[in-house]
Amino acid sequence: MTTRYILALDQGTTSSRAIVFDQEGGIVALAQRPFEQLFPQPGWVEHRPEDIWNSQIGAAREALRQSGLTARDIAAIGLTNQRETTLIWDRTTGEPLGNAIVWQCRRTAARCDALRAQPVAQTIQAKTGLVVDAYFSASKAEWLLEHWPDARRRAEAGELAFGTVDTWLLWQLTGGRVHATDVTNASRTMLFDIHQLTWDAELCSLFSIPMAMLPTVVPSSGYLGETSPEIFGDAIPISGLAGDQQAALFGQMCARVGMAKNTYGTGCFLLLHTGTKPCLSQQSLLSTVAWRLGDAPAEYALEGSVFIAGAAVQWLRDGLQLIGGAAETEAVARSVPDTDGVVFVPAFVGLGAPYWDPHARGLIAGLTRGTTRAHLVRAALEAIAYQTRDVVEAMLTDARQALGAGFALTELRVDGGAAANDFLMQFQADVLGVPVVRPTVTETTAAGAAYLAGLGSGFWRDLPEVTAVWRSERIFTPSPDGSTRQTGYAAWLDAVRRTQRL
Ligand code: G3P
Repeated sequence: MTTRYILALDQGTTSSRAIVFDQEGGIVALAQRPFEQLFPQPGWVEHRPEDIWNSQIGAAREALRQSGLTARDIAAIGLTNQRETTLIWDRTTGEPLGNAIVWQCRRTAARCDALRAQPVAQTIQAKTGLVVDAYFSASKAEWLLEHWPDARRRAEAGELAFGTVDTWLLWQLTGGRVHATDVTNASRTMLFDIHQLTWDAELCSLFSIPMAMLPTVVPSSGYLGETSPEIFGDAIPISGLAGDQQAALFGQMCARVGMAKNTYGTGCFLLLHTGTKPCLSQQSLLSTVAWRLGDAPAEYALEGSVFIAGAAVQWLRDGLQLIGGAAETEAVARSVPDTDGVVFVPAFVGLGAPYWDPHARGLIAGLTRGTTRAHLVRAALEAIAYQTRDVVEAMLTDARQALGAGFALTELRVDGGAAANDFLMQFQADVLGVPVVRPTVTETTAAGAAYLAGLGSGFWRDLPEVTAVWRSERIFTPSPDGSTRQTGYAAWLDAVRRTQRL
């Protein structure tokens, strides 16, 4: 029997990556292509649709080249993507209606603020699990239809196709034969009923989106189509698809109720598996579809994000020039026993969950003549862990309502760039009072797409077989001395309150 592999395509916000995985879940090859970010006006963010496609296909071909493999060696492709980013294109020519509007783009903020003040905001949250915000796709698609000449008429005539990035890539990969999205990506559009798993006519009408332009919604794992033979020299089945944060949850094998992962990037994305029924948040967290494996019932997650995590370290590097790079922070933070009372709240763009205060601004408290650069660096790392605890506390409140008063988190699985920082991971365990678990393969987003594709194509037989592939590299056990957990966190909460008074 010839050895075969899975090709995972991970289309992220700033770069496209392609990773080849073997049967043991090991990485055989990895290629990455960054692409241009467009900022046409303050607060606006766009991507060129052709850049998304060209960088992704370039990375995929490069990964195959590196590994010396051909299309025939690839059992299946798994696709994962930056979520919410919105495109519209012509069904016949494939020509996009302008640039993609990226999830970070705030051009529809005023529209969403107005909607949030209306009773329909509750309906939206109840149906979609989302809080009304410009982050999600609905108001972006509405904007495109309003601002592109003749777009509305063409959409109503069935000439245009709407899609998030997964849909755009699937369309390209299959030569325009498949217009589909999976349940996880659909759940980020604000047009999708996460209980019924269908597009919602009332929400489509609210945003004036003709339902004829919406993609077919498919499970996250199972046969979705195959690539046009000319792309890789032979057709490859596509059998896994999920938004990147959900893929990372799967890639961490957080496949049972109560398991959670945190991805430490520019910000943090924390997801908790809540089972086969959506758990609607009382804490303004998001309720989202985690995945659907074939015909099995959909599984759900609560999601909370921290806006500024690694970005605080970038600010120490670029804004204050206190450090040369993120890699130094671990040694610098360890060079002092504590922050000597310094607390840093990096609320540069307001505060996210559970505070939701767009007007809060950052603060460094507790400075004395004895404060050094090491104290500030340490405080920046501690802030990442404290903000994560804020989200975990909000999640626990929701989860106890939905899953039972006794619900407790037993561990937190971690990935993303800063998960490599042992100081931060130990501090995170101390602050949460639960073990922090780092896997051997920290490319969990791509791994999740690969696992979904492997399950969907029979490359891996079942979930236990995939679970056996996932391995932890290191477990950070909370220190028995709970002082960080109590006094450190109390000082943090006090400083957060002060950011809101500014
Ligand atoms: O919701 C946005 C998220 O999917 C973006 O992820 O990793 O591309 O920044 P990333």
